Amino acid sequence: MGLYSTYIFPRLMDRIMSGAGFQRLRNEVLKSARGEVLEVGLGTGLNLPHYPTGVSRLRAVDPAPLLPNRVAKRAANVSFPVELSRTGAEQLPYENRSFDYVVSTWTLCTIPDTGQALREVRRVLKPNGHLLFLEHGRSDDARTAAWQDRLNPVQNVIGCGCNLNRRIDQLISEAGLHILQLDRFAMEGVPRIGGELYRGIARPNQTSVSVPLKTESH
Ligand SMILES: C[S@@+](CC[C@H](N)C(=O)[O-])C[C@H]1O[C@@H](n2cnc3c(N)ncnc32)[C@H](O)[C@@H]1O
Repeated sequence: MGLYSTYIFPRLMDRIMSGAGFQRLRNEVLKSARGEVLEVGLGTGLNLPHYPTGVSRLRAVDPAPLLPNRVAKRAANVSFPVELSRTGAEQLPYENRSFDYVVSTWTLCTIPDTGQALREVRRVLKPNGHLLFLEHGRSDDARTAAWQDRLNPVQNVIGCGCNLNRRIDQLISEAGLHILQLDRFAMEGVPRIGGELYRGIARPNQTSVSVPLKTESH
């Protein structure tokens, strides 16, 4: 990791994404999480203060060590254990059907192989578990989407792998998850190319046979 991605980007991201608008949205999306929870892309731990008391344990993955001291401080202030694994969501180090909830906020824009990561999410969710997601992505407005495509290479560099133009609902559905609820709206105070939000809840598709679960050895 270079100077920008190690020191500058995490601080910028932490500052911008801890703003009041982001906090309100984090709080809303996380309020139904409980039991065994997995967060993909923990980042600097900005979601930690927003988890409700019904969470019994949080496990999290993120391949990048972003501001580890800040993450440790935030983790020390919650009432449940937090276990972080430095790995990508494409290969989750957890057993099939382990989690009541998986959380992804502003992360599906950045994961290199979202299809593989979401199939892993489906694998580790209990059959009655839920994915809670809050993501920015491709606009339905053709002009905005065209600008997102144009500016994506630049965003990729300044956002350390972030993409502006991913169709989040489609990625989730294609991975064998059924979307129960989807809200599409533009986030106030954020330029439209990066502020088109996808917020919702999905669960493992019970009828899908096209995405097999990993076989566990006993
Ligand atoms: C824009 S940040 C969002 C951080 C955090 N989710 C939040 O809401 O503040 C995107 C995060 O995705 C993480 N990430 C990148 N590749 C990943 C992967 N393959 N699996 C999981 N997380 C990944 C980055 O390290 C970064 O922490």
